[in-house]
Amino acid sequence: MNIAIHPVPPAERRAKPTDESNLGFGKIFSDHMFTMEWSAGKGWHDAAIGKYGPIAFEPATIVFHYGQTIFEGLKAYRTKSGDINLFRPDRNCARFNISASRLDMPNMEPDFMLQAIGMLLDMDRDWVPKSYETSLYIRPFMIATEPYLGLKSSSSFLFFIITGPVGAYYPEGFNPVKIQVCEKYSRAGPGGLGSVKTAANYAASLLAEKEANQAGFTQVLWLDASERKYLEEVGSMNIFFKIAGTVITPPLTGTTLDGITRSSAIELLKTWNIPVEERRISIDEVLGAHTEGKLDEMFGTGTAAVISPVGLLHYQGRDYSIPAVEGEPLAQRLFEQLMGMQYGLKPDPLGWIVPLDSLIERPLAAATAR
Ligand code: COI
Repeated sequence: MNIAIHPVPPAERRAKPTDESNLGFGKIFSDHMFTMEWSAGKGWHDAAIGKYGPIAFEPATIVFHYGQTIFEGLKAYRTKSGDINLFRPDRNCARFNISASRLDMPNMEPDFMLQAIGMLLDMDRDWVPKSYETSLYIRPFMIATEPYLGLKSSSSFLFFIITGPVGAYYPEGFNPVKIQVCEKYSRAGPGGLGSVKTAANYAASLLAEKEANQAGFTQVLWLDASERKYLEEVGSMNIFFKIAGTVITPPLTGTTLDGITRSSAIELLKTWNIPVEERRISIDEVLGAHTEGKLDEMFGTGTAAVISPVGLLHYQGRDYSIPAVEGEPLAQRLFEQLMGMQYGLKPDPLGWIVPLDSLIERPLAAATAR
């Protein structure tokens, strides 16, 4: 399928941020966005790149009422030589289709999605910031667009890709964050949507996060919904514990997100011969290890958050601080390795880096997944 290109006239282009040390996350948007429609009987059609800006929908549109929507998050990094790299974008495209299937939404040919990302980025190259630790965040998403108040899957959808320059996700930057274990609410139950990048998961976390913020914590750490015993994820990150030299992260049982930074961290740890286990881990085990002085480190992983060390855990009214590690913490090593590859400063032996130029050289794939 062709992609219609409507470049924004120079006079209408948005002002780019002048201070890259203060980008924050998700507040600034680039000039262009990609859109493509899907309708029953017709499949994907009308792919276009045009001006980023508001669009109108009827108030009865399904997404506003029943939340039939999914999204992805990935980043583009500028290397010292000015090239632009993506990190394992094929994984985002594959996960997008997994989310789409679970929400009864249409799939898309992953190669087409990659090329759409590539063409959009090519038009907004100048929006990829230049400083280390900054990047262009890429947010593909899909919404149900049929105006209808009965509960059913939409017969039409709109797919978007928007982008914007970002810095650190947390105000703490790479400094350790304080996390509250959530005892009051649940994020996801067995058979639910916990592993899917859909709005409902994030909406379910908002009140808990607000209450945690008001109590002085950055984020909440979720327990399993059935027993309130096993640790799951932070909501914007997967979670890792280093206990007596072994790294442990909760398994993918359908209630936690299959994070791309999570699986990359696991693969890196394996190549470094550091023991790593994907298994259920209870809050009691973590606190027991803390009491015995064996909880060496705790950190989160995520596209937006990258690698974020946890300095304090709060549970049942008590604070458990995680002492700073002597020498190089594992979280720091992972952070340096991932960022090093992403910014072209370290070799990429695992073949995870995809240069932007490699996405735009090939003939355009079909949009509809076979
Ligand atoms: C990401 O890390 O890209 C996400 O989608 C998480 C979101 C809460 C920012």
